[in-house]
Amino acid sequence: MHKVISFYINLINETLKERVVKKEPANLYEPIDYTLKLGGKRIRPALLMLANNLFDGNDKTALNSALAIEIFHNFTLLHDDIMDEAPLRRGKPSVYKKWNTNVAILSGDVMLIESIQLLSKKNHPNLHQVLSIFNTTAIQVCEGQQLDMDFEELPNVSIDDYLKMIELKTAVLLGASLKIGAVISHASSDNSHHIYEFGKNLGIAFQLMDDILDLYGDPEKVGKRIGGDVISNKKTYLLLKAQELATGKAKKDLEFCLSSIVLDDNTKIEKVKSIFNTLNIKKLALEEMNLFYNTAISHLDSVDANESKKMVFEQFAKGLMKRDN
Ligand code: IPE
Ligand code: IPE
Ligand code: MG
Ligand code: MG
Ligand code: MG
Repeated sequence: MHKVISFYINLINETLKERVVKKEPANLYEPIDYTLKLGGKRIRPALLMLANNLFDGNDKTALNSALAIEIFHNFTLLHDDIMDEAPLRRGKPSVYKKWNTNVAILSGDVMLIESIQLLSKKNHPNLHQVLSIFNTTAIQVCEGQQLDMDFEELPNVSIDDYLKMIELKTAVLLGASLKIGAVISHASSDNSHHIYEFGKNLGIAFQLMDDILDLYGDPEKVGKRIGGDVISNKKTYLLLKAQELATGKAKKDLEFCLSSIVLDDNTKIEKVKSIFNTLNIKKLALEEMNLFYNTAISHLDSVDANESKKMVFEQFAKGLMKRDN
């Protein structure tokens, strides 16, 4: 990893570690501390700091916004794990499993508010614009999450519907992280646009990889229950492509897996995986991922800034496409 990237990731981790934590009520604040100290890749705050640095902004001015974005992201994870009934997160019990659903809802709510508090803390000239990007994005994430839930129950979801859904639930937050960094450092509107589009397309590629890892990842590294998406009939690219390509026996078997109420979870995962394997679905998903990666890079090329600083973004993006967690 490039040293600038690890510098910012360390800075985020250190600052989160030193955060002053309220103690009471323990069932409200402990889950927040637990979540923020479980680690995570810190992709979004790192991107924000990098964008701010790309346009010659001051680290100190951007740091609170970077923390805010990470805390917002962690809030979405608390609620997402309830919605997805996901027992594991970053290799540890998810908050709703360790405590309960009500705790995960309310601790998540506080994190959302804390993130807005942090964003508003430093009164820099572009604060209004930063808050407006953040608010628009936060609503889009909720829209994406609702579509994701709706799609679980729908038999016919198109790949375009899926791509729109992941753009909302995941990709816009990567775009917004970069754009906020750009806006704080007074980048031109053209540059802010291209860095946002870089992040958004990278985010779509990132969620495609997340879907691949959900089934094909190493449980130790991913830190989530493998096959969770299959269990809940999540309309991932993998499943939608398989529904599109399967014929004959494979089609029947897949339909059976999706509708059966007798199949136990592990058998369902194994059966669906073997159908995916016959249809070469993982390779097709990686190809789709690469298309969005390339679009992301073309937007990076259009950013008018120091070329060697831009290379760091390319390295970062490449690393994300090869990630195993
Ligand atoms: C998980 O995000 C949720 C998705 C948008 C796929 P990350 O994969 O960035 O999670 P952490 O923060 O590194 O754990
Ligand atoms: C997550 O999508 C999107 C948000 C949290 C907003 P997933 O549900 O695929 O994320 P993981 O796999 O649980 O991390
Ligand atoms: Mg989800
Ligand atoms: Mg989930
Ligand atoms: Mg996932």
